[in-house]
Amino acid sequence: MSEPSGDRILVTGALGQIGTELVEALRQKHGSSSVIASDIRPEPEQTSNEQGPYVVLDVLDTESMIELCRQEAVGTVYHLAALLSATGEQNPDLCRKVNVGGTKSVLEAARQCSLRVFSPSSIAVFGPDAPKHAPQTTDFNPTTVYGETKVIGESLAQEYFQKYGVDTRGIRYPGLISYKAPAGGGTTDYAVEIFDAAIREGHYNCFVRPDTRLPMLYMDDAIRATLMLMDAPSGNLGPSRAGYNIDCYSFTAQELADEIAREVDGFQCDFSPDVRQKYADSWPDSLDGSVAKQEWDWSPEFDLQKMVRAMLDGMTKK
Ligand code: NAD
Ligand code: SER
Repeated sequence: MSEPSGDRILVTGALGQIGTELVEALRQKHGSSSVIASDIRPEPEQTSNEQGPYVVLDVLDTESMIELCRQEAVGTVYHLAALLSATGEQNPDLCRKVNVGGTKSVLEAARQCSLRVFSPSSIAVFGPDAPKHAPQTTDFNPTTVYGETKVIGESLAQEYFQKYGVDTRGIRYPGLISYKAPAGGGTTDYAVEIFDAAIREGHYNCFVRPDTRLPMLYMDDAIRATLMLMDAPSGNLGPSRAGYNIDCYSFTAQELADEIAREVDGFQCDFSPDVRQKYADSWPDSLDGSVAKQEWDWSPEFDLQKMVRAMLDGMTKK
């Protein structure tokens, strides 16, 4: 693996649910000017002193990305630009174009500019035939287009690592729960929307059945996992480096609603499943994260109760 040509960081899809918090964490760790946030959307109004450089960048524009990485001495890319599952199933061609094309574009820039790459995968790589407690390796037969793009993304990252020595790393994020930026059109968005509805209206109409169980993680844990994986010595990482299962927690939509009701007086949740139920049903209930535990010592800090309290505290202050 060749040494990165610079030590600055580029984040694609930086205005999204994860990017909003990852950019903040990276700027705290490396300094604001070292982290270039980018997205296809224009920069929103400056909201804090932590703000640093921002560029409008379409991840499909490989030449502009390469030019930017060369000019700005970028050494690492956190590639977050993508369409999530619910939006992706409504626009399958665009989902393939952005998710597969964007990942290929970033990997090609990485090959030409000696960049390290973090490119997230998802629990959506698993299909209904996978064990419900999903192992690190099994047959990957996703039934969503989004899941297909994530399987291809992991394969591309493996290929660039093996053929060209690009240092690629990734996590199969479970559903991520946070309040600083809105969730971006995924199936697991109910576990985010429910908090806002509970606080504002005391009621939520949930779009999956009450017994729907999915793996989930609070954003603070997801950011910590991301930084830990990127700090791990490359030699410690085995063949799962492009898409680690990580230990997280699993709960049903009913269990989440009950936990919120313990904290928010009078909160009530109804359930009216829509098309997203089918995507949720095709995914695992929980993940076996033992490989990530072994190779880079990952374990989460937030469980359901701690996460619900942190969400309600954070949203109330916001
Ligand atoms: P998000 O939808 O909130 O943000 C994605 C961002 O990408 C948006 O700001 C959007 O404007 C941008 N974007 C879209 N097309 C673009 C393009 N052509 N060029 C540049 N930017 C573009 O998504 P997120 O939740 O922050 O997810 C980030 C990554 O993590 C994705 O790869 C997603 O699949 C993965 N992931 C997220 C979750 C989750 O629960 N949030 C779970 C598993 C995996
Ligand atoms: N949280 C994501 C989604 O629901 C899973 O990758 O699309």
